[in-house]
Amino acid sequence: MTDRLRATGRSPLRALSSLVSIACLAAAALPAHAAESLTLYTTREPGLIQPLLSAFTATTKIQVNTVFVKDGLLERVKAEGARSPADLLMTVDAGNLLDLVEGGVTQPVKSAALESAIPANLRGADGQWFGLSMRARVLYADKALKINSFRYEDLADPKWKGKVCIRAGQHPYNTALIASLIAHDGEAKTEQWLRGVKANLARKATGGDRDVARDILGGICDVGLANSYYVGQMKASKEGSDARKWGDAIQVIRPTFANAKSGGTHVNISGAAVAKNAPQRANAVKLLEFLVSESAQSLYAQANYEYPVRKGVALDPIIGQAIGELKVDPLPLTEIAKYRKQASALVDKVGFDQ
Ligand SMILES: [Fe+2]
Repeated sequence: MTDRLRATGRSPLRALSSLVSIACLAAAALPAHAAESLTLYTTREPGLIQPLLSAFTATTKIQVNTVFVKDGLLERVKAEGARSPADLLMTVDAGNLLDLVEGGVTQPVKSAALESAIPANLRGADGQWFGLSMRARVLYADKALKINSFRYEDLADPKWKGKVCIRAGQHPYNTALIASLIAHDGEAKTEQWLRGVKANLARKATGGDRDVARDILGGICDVGLANSYYVGQMKASKEGSDARKWGDAIQVIRPTFANAKSGGTHVNISGAAVAKNAPQRANAVKLLEFLVSESAQSLYAQANYEYPVRKGVALDPIIGQAIGELKVDPLPLTEIAKYRKQASALVDKVGFDQ
């Protein structure tokens, strides 16, 4: 550079002023986010959240370095220790978030924006984790059936003998539901319920949530429990595809608990926690706050047909039509998660997956 300037034969002062303007131009041409960044560890498919992260960067000029950690998020952050570059840890299932908290890799956050946007039952009381979107465990039922309302407890009713399809009881989606039944009805009643549902199974408890819809279409079963967002995925599939046929074969009911005080449907969440050793703690909080803003919540809900945690945000149109607004079981997810191990032990005890 110096040699080239010299070769132009301009005065040193002019050369300096050129240099300054070049430097200014270069600074302006640099991506504005170069100065600010944060590192996000996520177990969620990066494609799902990328539109949100791009919107965050466009708004705040803060770059997000995304690290997709398919398995072993807790182990990895633990192993990295104080040198971990992770600022924000994102995953699904309240149980997984609590594992991060109990594993000592998170830190508390106090934020009025987060507290006002996220209902108290969907976040840690101590600010150690925050729910960002919800998925409901709903009833898929044959369209021909007339079902006005349904309680989770009803699935054990002998009238459904040989008519129930569900994935493995040990799957986290089911252990979380079983844990919430323990919280509502107690362990003894929940064991009885599990035995009843097991007796009603049309096939082994296995496969995925979409297979419930597939097997309803196939005439193997009439009803089953599965997550709400799969309804959106199936109904948005290409016309004529198998998934579309499964999605179109079912009606979806939002079950409640027999416990009269509740009147809500069991949900789980996707969520995030600020890492204990976050080098960019403030930026991690900014991203969390952005993710619960009105515009991000609507994007978030549509990215995977989930429910926004923030009140007043429009649902994805497919979910709105097929399932509708949710009344959420008010029991705190932290309370439900306490019974996770008990739930898993009950599944084994009654041989649910055998
Ligand atoms: Fe899923």
